[in-house]
Amino acid sequence: MNRRSFVQTLGAGAVGLSAFESTTLFARGLAQAPAAASVPLAPSLTNLIRIGSNENPYGPAPSAIQAVTMASPGANRYPGPLTQKLVTTIADKHKVPVEQVLLSGGSGDILAAVVTAFTGKTKALVTGLPSYEAPVRTAKDVGAPLKEIPLTSELRLDLPKMTAAAAGAGLVYICNPNNPTATAVSASAVTATIEAVVTASPATYILVDEAYFEYSDLPGFDTAVPLVAKYPNVIVARTFSKIHGMAGMRVGYAIAQPKTLEAIRAFHSNSGLSSMSLAAATASLEDKAHMAEQAVMNREVRAMTVAAFEKAGYTVAPSDANFIFVDIKRDTRRFADSCRKAGVAVGRAFPPLTNYARISIGTKAEMEKAIPVFMQVLGAPPNATAYFHTMDDLPTELT
Ligand SMILES: Cc1ncc(COP(=O)(O)O)c(C=O)c1O
Repeated sequence: MNRRSFVQTLGAGAVGLSAFESTTLFARGLAQAPAAASVPLAPSLTNLIRIGSNENPYGPAPSAIQAVTMASPGANRYPGPLTQKLVTTIADKHKVPVEQVLLSGGSGDILAAVVTAFTGKTKALVTGLPSYEAPVRTAKDVGAPLKEIPLTSELRLDLPKMTAAAAGAGLVYICNPNNPTATAVSASAVTATIEAVVTASPATYILVDEAYFEYSDLPGFDTAVPLVAKYPNVIVARTFSKIHGMAGMRVGYAIAQPKTLEAIRAFHSNSGLSSMSLAAATASLEDKAHMAEQAVMNREVRAMTVAAFEKAGYTVAPSDANFIFVDIKRDTRRFADSCRKAGVAVGRAFPPLTNYARISIGTKAEMEKAIPVFMQVLGAPPNATAYFHTMDDLPTELT
């Protein structure tokens, strides 16, 4: 079931959701959520299972949707109080002063501003290979040298090698959990890296991108925010695009010391957020039970998807995110093309690991349709599909 028809069925019953999904969502009053506006999506999007961009397939929290509705009539006013409220809520959540919070229309703008502020022609960007590519693109625009450090054999960031490369660099980018591999590193490893970098190279900044933070189950995993109090060189980025299910509302933020934020602001668009986005983000942050449910649903469907690939003989990197990175033992471009033709959009290739597919975790119903497509495209033995449907059970748009 796609996002639009999901919203449309809210009044009539959550057809296509698992028992767990419908029980938990209905228990939280989603069935009473206001009806969606009737703006049709392009036909190609309505049938496509969109598991290529690490989006949250369940949409925003019902409380966030309600906050949007309640904020809308007041949208003739500038959103000053709502801005203050979100900043305060974020500051309380992280136990930092409000001066250490910078709001942003998505965290992508934060990453771009941080890279622009702290790298330069003689100040390299140190990052993983592969890691989230947006900072690399900005560094190239700035003309900064790149030090891309291959991942470990477990496909985790190689923090000791990144530390060694940091001497004299402008910025070290730690994406934790890492996109596209979904692997995470522990808080103690991140702390040790930051301490080593600031000791050896005091002018180097460290950006810790925690976009997928809430999905991690890694023992010893935790946020780098407490390090901000001690180190002016540390910036932590967060987004509402993932566990909060608000990618289309464009909300993210940075936590850093005021002087560091001042340097970032010089390159940040500083465009304000809409009243609706601010209200939704505040409501979503306060809705801790909903966030916890999101992580549970992701974990359940992720385990089902990983099991299907492993049963078929494919290795999956340990995932601490809402996506998985699978060694499909063949070129992922052709795999992605074939899947798309069968109605399933997966991630693109991530050089140099072009034999790996990045697959976001959709709803259980979506993955039950997508997994047989993967198996068919990979030409897995028939028993690999026994978990789910036979190909005959697939809806016509997927065959
Ligand atoms: C690691 C990481 N950081 C940041 C972003 C940017 O998110 P947004 O600009 O939607 O907040 C993404 C988006 O996929 C991401 O994967």
